[in-house]
Amino acid sequence: MSVSDLTTLDKPNLKVLSTTTSTNDAAREWLNSGAPDGATLVADYQTAGRGRLGRQWHSPRGLDLTLSMIFIAPIESLRLVPLLGGLAVRAAVEEFLPPVIVPQIKWPNDILASGFKLAGVLAELISQPVSAAILGIGVNLNTRAGDFPADLRRPAASLGMLRGKAVKRDQFLESVLFHLKAYRKMWFQTPRSLVTTFSANCLTLGKKVKVSPPGREPFEATASGVDPFGTLMVVDRKGTTIPVEAGDVDPVD
Ligand code: BTN
Repeated sequence: MSVSDLTTLDKPNLKVLSTTTSTNDAAREWLNSGAPDGATLVADYQTAGRGRLGRQWHSPRGLDLTLSMIFIAPIESLRLVPLLGGLAVRAAVEEFLPPVIVPQIKWPNDILASGFKLAGVLAELISQPVSAAILGIGVNLNTRAGDFPADLRRPAASLGMLRGKAVKRDQFLESVLFHLKAYRKMWFQTPRSLVTTFSANCLTLGKKVKVSPPGREPFEATASGVDPFGTLMVVDRKGTTIPVEAGDVDPVD
């Protein structure tokens, strides 16, 4: 497959690149030169794709989906963009899986199915030239089992592996753009529903979890809810409710 299979979608404000460092960087440059809200950029290959918490994100050329969308909005509303991204990707992934496999979101926005990570979302906030977020989405569509990096912190799979059939990238792109548009509407109109819908699809809630806040000691707690800003609330062993803004939160088996 080449970049041409991504260019079949002729949409305004959708750019397709052959190679870039990171689609989040390329989207940011585009924003600097006047990209509008909702502008979206897809790349066939990233030479320096990045994940949350300073990790790397690898996708072989031409097999998966790496995308970034620009959200221009006041800073307060941008806090829900990571959740919005997780919801849109989850909905798109669900369309491509058999009904017995139900994908879920691990807070804040990893997409898991049958215990494997299928997709990740990285939202980066920007204050200049306007208040904006770059929502980066990486989905393992057709990567083969042996092609994942050996040092991943959780087992990964591709959608193609789980359903036993290759995924057409342009079809998946169309689906994820459709769901991004729908959840953007919910975000504008009824942000509370976005949080409610997120909570209904979040596998973390109600579970005993290990919380690993960046640069701090991990601790065990129970995930009790998500507040109106997308912050995860957990209750520790002493019964104290603690807000978790960032970090890894893994269910304890
Ligand atoms: C994670 O799971 O840690 C988030 C991964 C996000 C990867 C995507 S790929 C498109 C966009 N560009 C990047 O450099 N990262 C995001």
